[in-house]
This record gives sequence, C-alpha cells and structure tokens, in this order.
Amino acid sequence: MAQEKPFKVGLLLPMTGQFATTGRQLEAAAKLYVQEHGDVVAGRKVELIVKDDTGVPDISRRQAQELLVKDKVDVLAGFGLTPLALAAAPLATQSKTPEIVMAAGTASITEASPYIVRTSVTLPQGAATMAKWAPENGIKKVVTLVSDYGPGIDAEQSFIEEFKSKGGEVVETLRVPLRNPDFSPFLQKVRDIQPDAVFVFVPSGAGAALVKQFVERGMDKAGIRLIGTGDLTDDDLLNGMGDDALGIITAYHYSAAHPSEANKQFVDAFKKANNGMRPNFMAIGAYDGMHVIYEAIKATDGKGDGPALLAAMKGLSYESPRGPVTIDPETRDIIQNIYLREVKRDPADGELYNIEFDVAEAVKDPYKEAK
Ligand code: DHB
Repeated sequence: MAQEKPFKVGLLLPMTGQFATTGRQLEAAAKLYVQEHGDVVAGRKVELIVKDDTGVPDISRRQAQELLVKDKVDVLAGFGLTPLALAAAPLATQSKTPEIVMAAGTASITEASPYIVRTSVTLPQGAATMAKWAPENGIKKVVTLVSDYGPGIDAEQSFIEEFKSKGGEVVETLRVPLRNPDFSPFLQKVRDIQPDAVFVFVPSGAGAALVKQFVERGMDKAGIRLIGTGDLTDDDLLNGMGDDALGIITAYHYSAAHPSEANKQFVDAFKKANNGMRPNFMAIGAYDGMHVIYEAIKATDGKGDGPALLAAMKGLSYESPRGPVTIDPETRDIIQNIYLREVKRDPADGELYNIEFDVAEAVKDPYKEAK
C-alpha cells in the first residue's frame, strides 16, 4: 500500500539573536520526543520543519505563511515569545490550522485564535501562586520589576492583584525594556526603596544578568529578597549564576529537579542527547507540545484535518514529566501544578536546582478564571 503523505509540523523558533537559548531548548526537546516515540504515527511519517524567526514578529508571520502555503504543514508550533505567537494567530484562524504555543506565556494569547493550544504556562499561573506565598512568609512590602511587554505586564498585574488581596503592599512598579535591558538603574531604585522583596519577571535567558547585578549592589545583604516567576532561575542558566542564586524563591510549572520517575527519565535522555545540557521550562513546553500533536494524530487515525486535530487536543489529560496536565477544553490553555521552589545546591552532583517545597495543584489560568 502506498505510504500516506507525511504529517508536517512547522516549528517557528528564535534560533539566533537575544532569545536563541529558548529556540535551542525547544528544538532539542521536540527532536527528543520524536526520537523516543518514533517518527511514524498512525501510518503518517512525522516531519519537523524548523524555521529561525530570529525573535522578530514580521519574520514569524512571513514564515508561518510560507509553511502553510508552500510546505502545507498540518500544524504550526513553537513560538518563543508572545509577539511571535500573536503574529501567526490570524493565519492559524484563516487556514484552520492548530497553532501549538510551546513557550509564550501572555494569558490572552489563546484568545487571539480559536486554533491556539498552549502547552507552556501563563504568567498569571506563576505570579499569582507566588503572590499567595509571599505574605505568609514575612513579605509585606514589594516592588515589582518586569520586562515591559505582554508577559511582564501579566506577571505584574496578577501579582499585584493577588498580593493586595492577601494584605500585601506594592510600593512601586518598574518596567524594563525587553530588548538589551540594563537593569542597574531599576535595581538602584529598588535598593533606595528598601522593600521586603522585589518580584521579578524577565524572559528566559535574562535572569543571570539581573541576579548578578542584584548581588553586586549588595541588595541581598541589605535584606531585600528576590522572588519571581521561574523564568528568573531558568534551569539552563542556573549553574552559571553560581552561589548568587542560592535562596531565590520562584513559582512555576517545571523544574529539572521535579522528583518523579517520568521527569528523571526525561532529564537523563535530554542531557544524553544534548551534550549534558539540562532541559529548562521551555523544553518541557515543546516536549508536551509534541505529545499533544502525537495524541491528536493517533486519535484521528492519521486522517484528521485542522478542526479534527484541534478537537482531539481539547480535554487531553496525561502525566507529563512536569506532573499531571490537562488541555482545558474551554480555553485551550494548560491546567497544571504550579510549584514553589528554592534554589539549592544538590550535594550529590554539586549543581544548582530549583527544589520544589510546595505545590498548588491543577491551576487554571487565573486571568481567564476571573472573567
Ligand atoms: C515569554 C518569553 C519568555 O522567555 C518567558 O520566559 C516567558 C514568556 C513570552 O514572550 O511570552
């Protein structure tokens, strides 16, 4: 019998430029998933077509168009930054093609197209969980410091709302440019204010510079605590931060140290396939994104068009290396555990990890819950 035509996944990733670490993690995890699960699913050969969008929305839109028209991809996936996911959304809608957002985290992204399914996280999931923990742990007065675009504004707003409702006080809100940020004048401002803590969102890749400058200014010694969403203590960069990172508390959906058998296998296989590089929270978004795609191909017996694939993705529930997850059938966002973690050194291998010490279970996106 003749082979069915291949099932094509167009992966749009920032492989060069400021956000190249995100692209590298996403690509490595998507490829690992295919390697582990085979490249034939329900009779269809799965082909990954990787395009470097360089982190620029116009390029992302043009490449998405090409992938749809020229390559005739069955699914668009990747999306390392919010503006990139938004740029492709109208094309997903017009062509009725699922758009799997594996990285970007602004809550409203899933509302930009009914074809968007998210396997990463929303910033309010992380920020609101952090805001619940802080006031119960001696943090009453906070300055927020975020990257000035979608996910930063989401993190700021949801932190403030939850923190205030628990009796906390936000004394200043600072927004730092996304491109080539210089944190020093902002950190100086925080130091002058002397809050109990500074709550931070910076995108994956930017945390190391911020932590370094925080410690260089003696802010830790001055008694100001550093808290944030898990982007700050990205597993990919954590070891490079050294002892400066010890004690930072964050809330997020994934840690390379998540103590489950499924995660141990994932981390070991990822490191083996990538010269010892650790998977970070971006990697798990791509790994799970591929899982959702594979399950949808199976459920539609390899014959599903865009709407059928989308329908198969809605409501999917399974055990991921990050813990139990569900694709919310109503919002197409991921329902998942959000863990509270502290950076500690593991005496066994001498490496730094985000060690989980508490969990908020099955968290839905708070932004959509509030509507
Ligand atoms: C986004 C990008 C990041 O690098 C991150 O850590 C979280 C969110 C975004 O653009 O949505």
